[in-house]
Amino acid sequence: MSDQALLSPFHKTLNLSNRVVMAPMTRSRAANEGNIPTEDLYVSYYTQRASAGLIITEGSQVSKDAVGYVNTAGIHSKEQVEGWKKVTKSVHDKGGKIFIQLWHVGRMSHPDFHNGELPLAPSAINPNAQSYTPEGFKDTVTPKAMSIEDIKQTVADFKNAAINAMEAGFDGVEIHSSNGYLFHQFFNGTSNHRTDEYGGSIENRTRFFFEVLDAIKEAIAQEKIGVRFNPSLNGMFGITMDEETIPTFEHIIKKLNDYDLAYVHLSEPFNDVSNIPFAVKHIAKHFRPLYNGTLMINAGFDQESGNKVIEEGNADLVAFGKPFISNPDLVERFKHNYPLADWDTDTFYTPGKEGYIDYPTYEENN
Ligand SMILES: Cc1cc2nc3c(=O)[nH]c(=O)nc-3n(C[C@H](O)[C@H](O)[C@H](O)COP(=O)(O)O)c2cc1C
Repeated sequence: MSDQALLSPFHKTLNLSNRVVMAPMTRSRAANEGNIPTEDLYVSYYTQRASAGLIITEGSQVSKDAVGYVNTAGIHSKEQVEGWKKVTKSVHDKGGKIFIQLWHVGRMSHPDFHNGELPLAPSAINPNAQSYTPEGFKDTVTPKAMSIEDIKQTVADFKNAAINAMEAGFDGVEIHSSNGYLFHQFFNGTSNHRTDEYGGSIENRTRFFFEVLDAIKEAIAQEKIGVRFNPSLNGMFGITMDEETIPTFEHIIKKLNDYDLAYVHLSEPFNDVSNIPFAVKHIAKHFRPLYNGTLMINAGFDQESGNKVIEEGNADLVAFGKPFISNPDLVERFKHNYPLADWDTDTFYTPGKEGYIDYPTYEENN
């Protein structure tokens, strides 16, 4: 038995060999016509990282409408499902566990992805951000406010993607309800000005998310569903907090006690929010008492702070993002207290092997 909390197994529903989770990370390596995860790149990348207690894949679009970045993999076509099957099999053969993150970017997109049509969003409000299109970064536009029909279709798309994920052999799905994308746009009063049952009150602004969760729950076991939130996101991805932002997340997280989910995955603030009056500065501490189920925490953790947050009882699992890009053997490095390799931001989203599957393990390098 290790004396590190991060390396202790986690038996509740998920049955993980350790508590080190690989956070979802877009790497834009599906540079092919059908945005298919390919064997040469995807299978190697995820298999190299299979000693994580749990891998959460990159955000994967649930439909053609859902996309907003070039070369991201999808989970809506037959070919994509076939590609992912090879990934899950290989990770499982190595004893790993893997969830897929289900993604719809909403207004964080560009007409170039939609044959010139406008991207979808709760309201016609431009996030004044940038979309990474096949021709490089472009300014976002004023999106189309979703009709009830659009909302129903999107609920169906998420359900279908969850069914596809099961067919592809994933251990579960994570709903990407974080980081300024479609669900977050519905939650936030500054991006949602709707006057129907999807806007106005907190209950209305969270309705779409719960409709999607309930639809997925009809198709797959609740214990296979995770959800992700970034409550104190401000000034990034087009999101501006207001006085109702934190109460909205408190409402959601308390309501999730009525479900039996795999986990709730939260991020600590991505930037300095000490001057934002509406922001909560310590997310794990604030939300842990509100949620009875498995809590995963992320953003800015290292070995020491990761062990500490679990020991202090503020989280059950810790998701590591960037450290996993450059340390495929992150778990082994923690185990032996080996130093970590630095990541190269220049190759986060570039096509091909470089900066993707060529980071050596500590043992390979020494
Ligand atoms: C290259 C890169 C891509 C990312 N893509 C996603 C994504 O697809 N979905 C998501 O929820 N978060 C995404 N994130 C955020 C990470 O999951 C994580 O929240 C962030 O990196 C902070 O954790 P860290 O300090 O351990 O890196 C991404 C981060 C990076 C660096």
